[in-house]
Amino acid sequence: MEELHNLKNEALALINEAKNDQELKSLEITFLGRKGKVNQFFKNLAQVKKQERIRFGQLLNESKKAIEKALSNQKQLIADQQASDQQWFDITQPGQLPAIGHLHLITQAIREINTIFSQIGFIRVRYPQVEWDWYAFESLNMPKDHPARDEWETFFLDTAENQKMGKMVLTPQTSSGQVREMERLGQPPIRMINIAKCHRRQQDITHTVMFHQFEGLVIDENISISHLKGVTDYFADKFYGKGRKTRLRPFNFKFTEPSFEIDINCPLCLGKGCKTCKSGWHELGGAGMVHPNVLKVGGIDPSKYSGFAFGWGVERTYLMKSGLKIDDLRLIYSNDLRFLEQF
Ligand code: FA5
Repeated sequence: MEELHNLKNEALALINEAKNDQELKSLEITFLGRKGKVNQFFKNLAQVKKQERIRFGQLLNESKKAIEKALSNQKQLIADQQASDQQWFDITQPGQLPAIGHLHLITQAIREINTIFSQIGFIRVRYPQVEWDWYAFESLNMPKDHPARDEWETFFLDTAENQKMGKMVLTPQTSSGQVREMERLGQPPIRMINIAKCHRRQQDITHTVMFHQFEGLVIDENISISHLKGVTDYFADKFYGKGRKTRLRPFNFKFTEPSFEIDINCPLCLGKGCKTCKSGWHELGGAGMVHPNVLKVGGIDPSKYSGFAFGWGVERTYLMKSGLKIDDLRLIYSNDLRFLEQF
Protein backbone atom coordinates (compact mmCIF):
# COMPACT_ATOMS: atom_id res chain seq x y z
CA MET A 1 0.00 0.00 0.00
CA GLU A 2 2.88 2.29 0.74
CA GLU A 3 4.32 1.56 -2.68
CA LEU A 4 0.97 2.44 -4.23
CA HIS A 5 0.86 5.65 -2.22
CA ASN A 6 4.36 6.60 -3.43
CA LEU A 7 3.45 5.76 -7.01
CA LYS A 8 0.42 8.05 -6.89
CA ASN A 9 2.50 10.92 -5.42
CA GLU A 10 5.22 10.43 -8.01
CA ALA A 11 2.64 10.47 -10.81
CA LEU A 12 0.91 13.62 -9.52
CA ALA A 13 4.24 15.48 -9.13
CA LEU A 14 5.39 14.58 -12.66
CA ILE A 15 2.01 15.50 -14.19
CA ASN A 16 2.11 18.88 -12.42
CA GLU A 17 5.43 19.65 -14.06
CA ALA A 18 4.47 18.55 -17.57
CA LYS A 19 4.91 21.43 -20.03
CA ASN A 20 3.08 20.15 -23.08
CA ASP A 21 0.69 17.55 -24.48
CA GLN A 22 3.49 15.16 -25.51
CA GLU A 23 4.89 15.00 -22.00
CA LEU A 24 1.39 14.40 -20.67
CA LYS A 25 0.78 11.62 -23.19
CA SER A 26 3.95 9.80 -22.23
CA LEU A 27 3.09 10.09 -18.48
CA GLU A 28 -0.38 8.70 -19.23
CA ILE A 29 1.22 5.68 -20.91
CA THR A 30 3.76 5.23 -18.09
CA PHE A 31 1.15 5.23 -15.35
CA LEU A 32 -2.20 4.29 -16.88
CA GLY A 33 -1.22 2.41 -20.05
CA ARG A 34 -2.01 -1.29 -20.53
CA LYS A 35 1.50 -2.19 -19.39
CA GLY A 36 1.66 0.85 -17.13
CA LYS A 37 2.60 1.03 -13.46
CA VAL A 38 -0.99 1.20 -12.13
CA ASN A 39 -2.05 -1.83 -14.12
CA GLN A 40 0.90 -3.70 -12.68
CA PHE A 41 -0.74 -3.28 -9.25
CA PHE A 42 -4.08 -4.57 -10.60
CA LYS A 43 -2.29 -7.65 -11.89
CA ASN A 44 -0.79 -8.22 -8.42
CA LEU A 45 -4.14 -7.81 -6.65
CA ALA A 46 -4.59 -11.58 -6.36
CA GLN A 47 -1.41 -11.86 -4.31
CA VAL A 48 -2.66 -9.43 -1.64
CA LYS A 49 -3.93 -11.03 1.52
CA LYS A 50 -7.67 -11.63 1.40
CA GLN A 51 -8.52 -9.42 4.41
CA GLU A 52 -6.61 -6.45 2.89
CA ARG A 53 -7.67 -6.96 -0.72
CA ILE A 54 -10.86 -4.84 -0.54
CA ARG A 55 -9.07 -1.84 0.98
CA PHE A 56 -6.19 -2.25 -1.43
CA GLY A 57 -8.62 -2.46 -4.36
CA GLN A 58 -10.36 0.74 -3.21
CA LEU A 59 -7.05 2.54 -2.79
CA LEU A 60 -5.94 1.37 -6.23
CA ASN A 61 -9.13 2.71 -7.84
CA GLU A 62 -8.84 6.02 -5.98
CA SER A 63 -5.20 6.37 -7.08
CA LYS A 64 -6.10 5.63 -10.69
CA LYS A 65 -8.89 8.22 -10.61
CA ALA A 66 -6.60 10.83 -8.97
CA ILE A 67 -4.00 10.33 -11.72
CA GLU A 68 -6.68 10.58 -14.46
CA LYS A 69 -8.02 13.80 -12.92
CA ALA A 70 -4.52 15.31 -12.60
CA LEU A 71 -3.85 14.46 -16.28
CA SER A 72 -7.06 16.15 -17.45
CA ASN A 73 -6.50 19.26 -15.23
CA GLN A 74 -2.97 19.71 -16.48
CA LYS A 75 -4.13 19.26 -20.08
CA GLN A 76 -6.62 22.10 -19.64
CA LEU A 77 -4.01 24.28 -17.95
CA ILE A 78 -1.59 23.82 -20.87
CA ALA A 79 -4.37 24.63 -23.40
CA ASP A 80 -5.33 27.83 -21.51
CA GLN A 81 -1.69 28.87 -21.30
CA GLN A 82 -1.21 28.41 -25.06
CA ALA A 83 -4.34 30.46 -25.83
CA SER A 84 -3.23 33.34 -23.63
CA ASP A 85 0.32 33.19 -25.12
CA GLN A 86 -1.21 33.76 -28.55
CA GLN A 87 -3.16 36.80 -27.34
CA TRP A 88 -0.18 38.42 -25.74
CA PHE A 89 1.11 41.57 -27.31
CA ASP A 90 3.75 44.13 -26.54
CA ILE A 91 2.05 47.40 -25.66
CA THR A 92 5.29 49.32 -26.17
CA GLN A 93 5.33 48.45 -29.92
CA PRO A 94 4.04 51.24 -32.22
CA GLY A 95 0.51 50.32 -33.38
CA GLN A 96 -0.51 49.65 -36.97
CA LEU A 97 -2.71 52.44 -38.34
CA PRO A 98 -5.89 51.14 -39.98
CA ALA A 99 -6.29 52.12 -43.63
CA ILE A 100 -8.35 55.32 -43.81
CA GLY A 101 -9.95 56.57 -47.01
CA HIS A 102 -10.26 60.20 -48.04
CA LEU A 103 -12.51 62.41 -50.12
CA HIS A 104 -12.31 62.06 -53.90
CA LEU A 105 -9.99 64.66 -55.45
CA ILE A 106 -12.88 66.37 -57.23
CA THR A 107 -14.85 66.64 -53.97
CA GLN A 108 -11.73 68.21 -52.42
CA ALA A 109 -11.50 70.63 -55.38
CA ILE A 110 -15.21 71.55 -55.10
CA ARG A 111 -14.82 72.32 -51.40
CA GLU A 112 -11.73 74.43 -52.05
CA ILE A 113 -13.45 76.37 -54.87
CA ASN A 114 -16.50 76.93 -52.68
CA THR A 115 -14.38 78.24 -49.80
CA ILE A 116 -12.50 80.67 -52.06
CA PHE A 117 -15.71 82.18 -53.45
CA SER A 118 -17.54 82.21 -50.11
CA GLN A 119 -14.74 84.42 -48.75
CA ILE A 120 -15.84 87.20 -51.13
CA GLY A 121 -19.54 86.79 -50.45
CA PHE A 122 -20.68 84.22 -53.05
CA ILE A 123 -23.48 81.93 -51.87
CA ARG A 124 -23.36 78.30 -52.97
CA VAL A 125 -26.52 76.93 -54.57
CA ARG A 126 -27.45 73.74 -56.39
CA TYR A 127 -30.05 73.32 -59.07
CA PRO A 128 -31.57 70.19 -60.65
CA GLN A 129 -29.39 67.90 -62.70
CA VAL A 130 -32.47 66.69 -64.54
CA GLU A 131 -33.60 70.00 -65.96
CA TRP A 132 -36.10 71.57 -68.33
CA ASP A 133 -34.84 72.58 -71.76
CA TRP A 134 -36.18 76.05 -70.82
CA TYR A 135 -33.60 76.64 -68.05
CA ALA A 136 -30.78 74.80 -69.84
CA PHE A 137 -31.17 76.58 -73.23
CA GLU A 138 -34.30 78.55 -74.13
CA SER A 139 -34.19 81.07 -71.26
CA LEU A 140 -30.49 81.59 -72.01
CA ASN A 141 -31.13 83.14 -75.38
CA MET A 142 -29.99 80.00 -77.21
CA PRO A 143 -31.73 79.56 -80.56
CA LYS A 144 -33.54 76.28 -81.31
CA ASP A 145 -30.90 75.34 -83.89
CA HIS A 146 -27.94 75.84 -81.54
CA PRO A 147 -25.60 72.81 -81.84
CA ALA A 148 -25.66 72.18 -78.06
CA ARG A 149 -29.38 71.47 -78.26
CA ASP A 150 -28.76 68.74 -80.78
CA GLU A 151 -29.05 65.09 -79.71
CA TRP A 152 -25.30 64.70 -80.25
CA GLU A 153 -24.35 67.04 -77.42
CA THR A 154 -27.14 66.76 -74.87
CA PHE A 155 -28.92 63.82 -73.22
CA PHE A 156 -32.66 64.24 -73.68
CA LEU A 157 -35.03 62.30 -71.43
CA ASP A 158 -37.70 60.15 -72.95
CA THR A 159 -40.54 62.03 -71.21
CA ALA A 160 -43.52 64.10 -72.27
CA GLU A 161 -42.74 67.61 -73.50
CA ASN A 162 -44.04 70.57 -71.50
CA GLN A 163 -45.59 73.38 -73.53
CA LYS A 164 -43.51 76.15 -71.96
CA MET A 165 -40.54 74.24 -70.50
CA GLY A 166 -39.98 71.92 -73.47
CA LYS A 167 -38.22 68.55 -73.06
CA MET A 168 -36.26 67.34 -70.05
CA VAL A 169 -32.48 67.04 -70.29
CA LEU A 170 -29.53 66.04 -68.13
CA THR A 171 -28.24 69.54 -67.64
CA PRO A 172 -25.19 70.12 -69.88
CA GLN A 173 -24.07 73.34 -68.14
CA THR A 174 -24.45 75.03 -64.77
CA SER A 175 -25.65 78.13 -66.64
CA SER A 176 -29.07 76.44 -66.27
CA GLY A 177 -28.99 77.86 -62.71
CA GLN A 178 -28.80 81.51 -63.87
CA VAL A 179 -32.50 82.18 -64.46
CA ARG A 180 -33.45 79.88 -61.57
CA GLU A 181 -31.33 82.04 -59.23
CA MET A 182 -32.88 85.26 -60.57
CA GLU A 183 -36.33 83.75 -59.94
CA ARG A 184 -35.35 82.56 -56.45
CA LEU A 185 -34.05 85.96 -55.28
CA GLY A 186 -36.42 88.18 -57.27
CA GLN A 187 -34.12 91.19 -57.26
CA PRO A 188 -30.36 91.91 -57.17
CA PRO A 189 -27.88 91.85 -55.53
CA ILE A 190 -27.05 88.32 -56.67
CA ARG A 191 -23.77 86.60 -55.91
CA MET A 192 -24.21 82.93 -56.79
CA ILE A 193 -21.75 80.08 -57.05
CA ASN A 194 -23.44 77.00 -58.50
CA ILE A 195 -21.27 73.87 -58.46
CA ALA A 196 -22.90 70.82 -59.98
CA LYS A 197 -22.70 67.75 -62.19
CA CYS A 198 -23.15 68.25 -65.93
CA HIS A 199 -23.60 65.71 -68.71
CA ARG A 200 -22.66 65.79 -72.39
CA ARG A 201 -22.25 63.20 -75.09
CA GLN A 202 -18.48 63.55 -75.14
CA GLN A 203 -15.75 61.10 -74.23
CA ASP A 204 -12.02 61.43 -74.92
CA ILE A 205 -8.83 62.34 -73.05
CA THR A 206 -10.08 65.87 -72.28
CA HIS A 207 -13.84 65.14 -71.98
CA THR A 208 -15.98 62.89 -69.79
CA VAL A 209 -19.71 62.20 -70.11
CA MET A 210 -20.23 63.37 -66.54
CA PHE A 211 -18.17 66.28 -65.27
CA HIS A 212 -18.58 69.25 -62.92
CA GLN A 213 -18.82 72.95 -63.56
CA PHE A 214 -18.76 75.90 -61.21
CA GLU A 215 -20.80 78.85 -62.31
CA GLY A 216 -20.48 82.32 -60.87
CA LEU A 217 -23.22 84.90 -61.35
CA VAL A 218 -23.07 88.46 -60.04
CA ILE A 219 -25.85 90.96 -60.75
CA ASP A 220 -26.14 94.42 -59.26
CA GLU A 221 -26.07 98.07 -60.29
CA ASN A 222 -22.97 99.21 -62.22
CA ILE A 223 -21.39 95.79 -62.58
CA SER A 224 -18.71 95.89 -65.30
CA ILE A 225 -16.09 93.74 -67.00
CA SER A 226 -13.46 94.96 -64.54
CA HIS A 227 -15.44 93.27 -61.72
CA LEU A 228 -15.33 90.03 -63.70
CA LYS A 229 -11.58 90.40 -64.21
CA GLY A 230 -11.06 91.23 -60.52
CA VAL A 231 -12.94 88.09 -59.42
CA THR A 232 -11.17 85.75 -61.86
CA ASP A 233 -7.74 87.15 -60.85
CA TYR A 234 -8.67 86.75 -57.17
CA PHE A 235 -9.61 83.12 -57.85
CA ALA A 236 -6.39 82.45 -59.81
CA ASP A 237 -4.28 83.87 -56.99
CA LYS A 238 -6.07 81.85 -54.27
CA PHE A 239 -6.45 78.57 -56.14
CA TYR A 240 -3.22 78.47 -58.14
CA GLY A 241 -0.93 80.64 -56.02
CA LYS A 242 1.02 83.89 -56.23
CA GLY A 243 1.89 85.23 -59.66
CA ARG A 244 -1.00 83.49 -61.42
CA LYS A 245 -3.52 85.68 -63.23
CA THR A 246 -6.18 85.46 -65.91
CA ARG A 247 -6.72 86.99 -69.31
CA LEU A 248 -9.96 87.55 -71.23
CA ARG A 249 -10.14 86.50 -74.87
CA PRO A 250 -13.15 87.43 -77.09
CA PHE A 251 -15.54 84.55 -77.64
CA ASN A 252 -19.17 83.88 -78.39
CA PHE A 253 -21.85 82.59 -76.00
CA LYS A 254 -25.50 83.33 -76.65
CA PHE A 255 -26.28 84.22 -73.03
CA THR A 256 -23.45 86.74 -72.52
CA GLU A 257 -22.55 89.88 -74.44
CA PRO A 258 -19.66 90.50 -74.71
CA SER A 259 -18.39 86.94 -74.15
CA PHE A 260 -14.92 85.71 -73.31
CA GLU A 261 -12.80 82.66 -72.87
CA ILE A 262 -10.79 82.98 -69.68
CA ASP A 263 -7.15 81.87 -69.81
CA ILE A 264 -4.73 81.36 -66.94
CA ASN A 265 -1.04 82.11 -67.30
CA CYS A 266 1.30 79.12 -67.52
CA PRO A 267 2.82 78.10 -64.13
CA LEU A 268 6.27 77.70 -65.70
CA CYS A 269 6.72 80.94 -67.69
CA LEU A 270 3.89 83.01 -66.06
CA GLY A 271 2.64 84.12 -69.50
CA LYS A 272 5.88 84.77 -71.39
CA GLY A 273 5.64 81.60 -73.50
CA CYS A 274 7.70 78.41 -73.07
CA LYS A 275 8.12 74.94 -74.60
CA THR A 276 5.21 73.41 -72.62
CA CYS A 277 2.56 76.06 -73.21
CA LYS A 278 3.83 77.85 -76.37
CA SER A 279 1.50 80.87 -76.00
CA GLY A 280 2.08 81.37 -72.27
CA TRP A 281 -1.62 80.77 -71.47
CA HIS A 282 -4.02 77.84 -70.85
CA GLU A 283 -7.79 77.96 -71.40
CA LEU A 284 -9.91 77.71 -68.22
CA GLY A 285 -13.53 78.25 -69.28
CA GLY A 286 -16.18 80.67 -70.49
CA ALA A 287 -17.45 83.99 -69.13
CA GLY A 288 -19.15 87.22 -70.13
CA MET A 289 -21.55 90.00 -69.24
CA VAL A 290 -25.08 88.63 -68.76
CA HIS A 291 -27.13 89.24 -71.93
CA PRO A 292 -30.02 91.75 -71.43
CA ASN A 293 -32.46 89.15 -72.82
CA VAL A 294 -31.49 86.73 -70.03
CA LEU A 295 -31.93 89.42 -67.37
CA LYS A 296 -35.39 90.17 -68.80
CA VAL A 297 -36.42 86.50 -68.72
CA GLY A 298 -35.27 86.40 -65.07
CA GLY A 299 -37.48 89.42 -64.28
CA ILE A 300 -34.56 91.87 -63.85
CA ASP A 301 -34.53 95.29 -65.49
CA PRO A 302 -31.45 95.48 -67.80
CA SER A 303 -31.60 99.27 -67.89
CA LYS A 304 -30.97 99.35 -64.13
CA TYR A 305 -28.88 96.26 -63.50
CA SER A 306 -25.99 94.49 -65.18
CA GLY A 307 -24.04 91.39 -64.31
CA PHE A 308 -21.30 88.97 -65.22
CA ALA A 309 -21.21 85.18 -65.29
CA PHE A 310 -18.52 82.55 -65.71
CA GLY A 311 -18.64 78.76 -66.00
CA TRP A 312 -15.58 76.54 -65.77
CA GLY A 313 -14.98 72.81 -65.57
CA VAL A 314 -13.95 71.69 -62.06
CA GLU A 315 -11.89 68.80 -63.44
CA ARG A 316 -9.95 70.91 -65.92
CA THR A 317 -9.45 73.77 -63.48
CA TYR A 318 -8.11 71.29 -60.91
CA LEU A 319 -5.80 69.54 -63.37
CA MET A 320 -4.23 72.86 -64.24
CA LYS A 321 -2.83 73.21 -60.75
CA SER A 322 0.91 73.18 -61.26
CA GLY A 323 2.64 69.88 -60.65
CA LEU A 324 -0.32 67.70 -61.64
CA LYS A 325 0.54 65.95 -64.87
CA ILE A 326 -2.61 63.96 -65.59
CA ASP A 327 -2.86 63.45 -69.32
CA ASP A 328 -6.25 61.70 -69.42
CA LEU A 329 -9.27 63.26 -67.67
CA ARG A 330 -11.05 59.90 -67.60
CA LEU A 331 -8.53 58.58 -65.02
CA ILE A 332 -10.26 60.75 -62.41
CA TYR A 333 -13.38 58.59 -62.61
CA SER A 334 -11.65 55.26 -63.25
CA ASN A 335 -11.87 54.19 -59.57
CA ASP A 336 -8.28 52.98 -59.77
CA LEU A 337 -7.09 53.20 -56.15
CA ARG A 338 -3.41 53.33 -57.18
CA PHE A 339 -4.26 56.65 -58.85
CA LEU A 340 -6.78 58.01 -56.34
CA GLU A 341 -4.68 57.26 -53.23
CA GLN A 342 -2.14 59.87 -54.32
CA PHE A 343 -4.49 62.80 -53.65
C1 FA5 B 1 -20.15 76.53 -71.03
O1 FA5 B 1 -20.58 75.47 -70.60
C2 FA5 B 1 -20.76 77.82 -70.63
N1 FA5 B 1 -21.95 77.58 -69.90
C3 FA5 B 1 -19.75 78.64 -69.80
C4 FA5 B 1 -20.21 80.03 -69.52
C5 FA5 B 1 -20.85 80.32 -68.33
C6 FA5 B 1 -20.00 81.05 -70.43
C7 FA5 B 1 -21.29 81.60 -68.05
C8 FA5 B 1 -20.42 82.33 -70.20
C9 FA5 B 1 -21.05 82.61 -68.98
P1 FA5 B 1 -18.21 75.42 -72.34
O2 FA5 B 1 -19.05 74.51 -73.16
O3 FA5 B 1 -17.01 76.01 -73.03
O4 FA5 B 1 -19.04 76.64 -71.77
O5 FA5 B 1 -17.73 74.65 -71.05
C10 FA5 B 1 -17.04 75.32 -70.01
C11 FA5 B 1 -16.00 74.41 -69.39
O6 FA5 B 1 -16.57 73.19 -68.95
C12 FA5 B 1 -14.91 73.97 -70.37
O7 FA5 B 1 -13.91 74.94 -70.50
C13 FA5 B 1 -14.40 72.74 -69.70
O8 FA5 B 1 -13.50 73.07 -68.64
C14 FA5 B 1 -15.63 72.14 -69.08
N2 FA5 B 1 -16.19 71.05 -69.90
C15 FA5 B 1 -17.08 71.15 -70.92
N3 FA5 B 1 -17.38 69.94 -71.42
C16 FA5 B 1 -16.68 69.05 -70.70
C17 FA5 B 1 -16.56 67.61 -70.70
N4 FA5 B 1 -17.27 66.85 -71.54
N5 FA5 B 1 -15.73 67.04 -69.82
C18 FA5 B 1 -15.04 67.78 -68.93
N6 FA5 B 1 -15.11 69.13 -68.85
C19 FA5 B 1 -15.91 69.76 -69.71
